[in-house]
Amino acid sequence: MVLHSVLISLPDKKATRHLGKLLPKYLPPGSVILLEGDLGAGKTTLVQGIGEGLGIEEPIVSPTFTLVNEYTEGRLPLYHIDLYRLQPSEIEEIYIENYWEWLEVKPGITAIEWSDRLPYKPSDYLDICLTYNLDRGRIAKLLLVGKLNFSLEDLNSELRILNPEEK
Ligand SMILES: Nc1ncnc2c1ncn2[C@@H]1O[C@H](COP(=O)(O)OP(=O)(O)OP(=O)(O)O)[C@@H](O)[C@H]1O
Ligand SMILES: [Mg+2]
Repeated sequence: MVLHSVLISLPDKKATRHLGKLLPKYLPPGSVILLEGDLGAGKTTLVQGIGEGLGIEEPIVSPTFTLVNEYTEGRLPLYHIDLYRLQPSEIEEIYIENYWEWLEVKPGITAIEWSDRLPYKPSDYLDICLTYNLDRGRIAKLLLVGKLNFSLEDLNSELRILNPEEK
């Protein structure tokens, strides 16, 4: 049976970063990752891991004054969007579909923090919801939506090799 969702325990920030670092191996160019989770849940840390996985050396920080931070030095471009400070009307004014329809933008990986604020979503994406774990660390729920498809089992087992202390 093919898994469409998986829960991954992330005991510390290194584990969050490792998860991000592995993702580019599995995601085809043009993939979109919608990130959800409370303040400080680890969304930016995960995007920093994605940057590392793509070979981007420039430090990745959440876009504050720009809507999109573009990093083009890696294997694929990374587009990092953070909707936290934007009102729904402001989001609609921006042609955000460019970052998943790839009409004027070179296909890469788009990661959107606070994606629950999107007025509309792409048809295919990886949803990652980060929550605080009761004991320590975080839990990530990964969900494949639409036609985006890769083996979540393989990703999960590769992560367990990197974090052998996890059962
Ligand atoms: N699995 C984890 N366990 C414990 N701490 C973590 C974990 N992952 C990330 N952190 C830490 O949580 C803090 C917040 O991380 P980060 O800035 O990535 O969260 P965020 O979801 O982007 O926050 P914001 O909502 O402000 O955008 C950082 O200090 C980071 O190192
Ligand atoms: Mg953030």
